Formats: sequence, structure tokens, C-alpha cells
Amino acid sequence: MPVPSITLLPGDGIGPEIAAAAGKLLDAIGDYEISEGLIGGISIDENGVALTDETLENCRGSDAVLLCAVGGPKWDTTDPDAPRPEQGLLGLRSGLGLFANLRPVRPFRALLDASPLKRDRIEGTDLLVVRELTGGIYFGETGRSGDRAFDECAYTVEEVERITRIAFESARYRDGKPKPRVTSVDKANVLETSRLWRETVSRLAADAPDIDVEHLLVDNTAMQLVSRPTDFDVILTENLFGDILSDEAAMLTGSLGMLPSASLGADGPGLFEPVHGSAPDIAGTGQANPLATFLSVSLMLRFGLDQGEKADQIESAVEETLDAGFRTPDLATGADGESAVGTDEMTREVISRIT
Ligand code: IPM
Ligand code: MG
Repeated sequence: MPVPSITLLPGDGIGPEIAAAAGKLLDAIGDYEISEGLIGGISIDENGVALTDETLENCRGSDAVLLCAVGGPKWDTTDPDAPRPEQGLLGLRSGLGLFANLRPVRPFRALLDASPLKRDRIEGTDLLVVRELTGGIYFGETGRSGDRAFDECAYTVEEVERITRIAFESARYRDGKPKPRVTSVDKANVLETSRLWRETVSRLAADAPDIDVEHLLVDNTAMQLVSRPTDFDVILTENLFGDILSDEAAMLTGSLGMLPSASLGADGPGLFEPVHGSAPDIAGTGQANPLATFLSVSLMLRFGLDQGEKADQIESAVEETLDAGFRTPDLATGADGESAVGTDEMTREVISRIT
């Protein structure tokens, strides 16, 4: 077996700290050839652009890409001509053809009281957000003329079909529920792209009698997600709605610091990243929560490198570490039995539980 190659992109803010933690975890769990690259603000500082061809090529040539975080106040600008760190991430998504973004949301037992939502509401939540990642308003034509600005939102039938297939396959693969359910989220009462979306999902649903497919408007979904989260199984949605709903769903797990994600294309390497951002307010303090990144490493091993057993080991180690009471500040509730730890100690605790 050749040693799998990973491109590690630490990025900005807390990115380098959690990238170092991920490096230690990978060292502990197996043999990987890791090469680092620049992305986001740090790449703008060094190269003038958020993603160089060189970084993109390195990613293309590796078996998987692990990205930590991009962005920060230093590069915040409303100047349409200035480079932005997020362009690095968007460039990578489109450059690698990563149209499917999977964001599993499952609160850990030990964190049920860390969520701002009541324990009895979230207990039993186990859902997957399947977000279309390379279309819609994120990649439409955009511009300004005089005092007017616009962002075009467009979808083709083919783009909707391929992400719908991923959602259906994921629903079948997840089992757990008596019958797989896919909730397709749109704004079909207002948007033409959403009507095309709904039409296409319904057409494919007719050939998938083993799956319950329902349609829900995005505003209603935002409400239902906090009022009855346990009823959801797979949420299928377009790029912008998925961005917003996945942050909302993250709070069901207690902290945005817990949510991992996988972005996959038809072929080539996948991109694995925590959903949280670069948290510039705590960058450099050693307090960042590395767990979303560890869980992203787990997704990378499972879906990117075909090492499901090692992925299970990481998930169990994270679960046990939380059960033992270790909490980074974002997870702390002040309850008895909690030990407050920073990034390094959390990393050591998780690694010590890798069997
Ligand atoms: C995410 C992030 C990105 C997005 C940003 C950083 C461009 O919020 O992955 O959810 O909007 O997709
Ligand atoms: Mg987001």
C-alpha cells in the first residue's frame, strides 16, 4: 500500500494551531505523507492572491486535502477589486470540482447540556446536511454598476441531479432510521431556481421509492431545525441555504467548534474542513477547539482514504475525551466534573485514547 498523501492547508487565525494539532493526530494514527500549502489571507500576504496555481496543483496531486480556516479582519474589505481570503476556499472548491458538501450533525452525549437548546429537544438528533457547493449564487455572475450591485443565482438540471443523487445515496448508506428520509430545502414559492430544484428532486424521487422525500421551504426549515431537530435525516439543499442552515444546525451539537465537513467531487481528492471559521478573536491564545478538525480528519480517512477503521478510532477517542470531562472554553458549561483545557491538552487527551 503506498503511503497516502495529504495536502494540509492551515490558513488563517486559529488555522495554524489546529493544523498542528491535526498533524499530531495523523502522526499518532498512521503513516501519511503530509505537505503544507498556503491559502487565504496568508497567501494574499505572500503571493497577492488567496489561492495560487501551485497550491491548487499540489492539492490536485494528493489523495486528500485538509483545510483548517481562512479569513480575518486584516483582509476584510468591501472593495470589489481587492483579494479576499474566502476566494481561496471557493477557488479550491470549484478547481477540484467539489460539488457535494456533507455536514453530519450529531450531538455528543457529553455535550447535550452545552447546546443553548434544551437537552430533550436535541437528544437523538442525527442528521446530515448535503449542500450543493459549486453552483448557485456563490458562483453566478456578480458586479456593480453605479449604485447598484447584483449576484446572479443560477442552477442547471444536471447540477441539481448530481447533488440529489449524493443525498439519496447518503440517506441509504446512513441507515439507522426505519426508512431513509431526504428533506429537500428550497424557496420554491419565490425563486425560479428553487422551482427547477424542486421539479428535479421530485423527478428523481419517483425512481427512489425506498426513500421518503419531502420538500420544505427554507424559512420554515430554519424554524423546524430548532423545534424538532430529531425528525430530520438528510437535508438536501443549494449552496447559500446550506451555508446558513449548517451553521444553525451546528449549534445543536453545542458549539460550532464541533462540526466537521467533507467536500467531494465526481473524482479526484476530497477536501475536508471544520465548519467553523478562523476565530480571529482567540487566535494565538492556545484555546481553540481542535475537535471539529479531528472529526474532519476522521471524515477524510473514511471517505477520502478508505481507512474507515482508523476513522472509527478517532470518533471514539473524541467521544471518550468528552465523556471524561475535558472541555475547551467554547464547550464549557461550568458543570461539575469538567476540566478546562486548551488546544494542546485536548489534543494530548484525544491521542492518548487512540487504541
Ligand atoms: C462555509 C463558510 C464558507 C462558505 C466561507 C468561508 C466562504 O462559511 O464553509 O460554510 O460560505 O461556504
Ligand atoms: Mg458557512
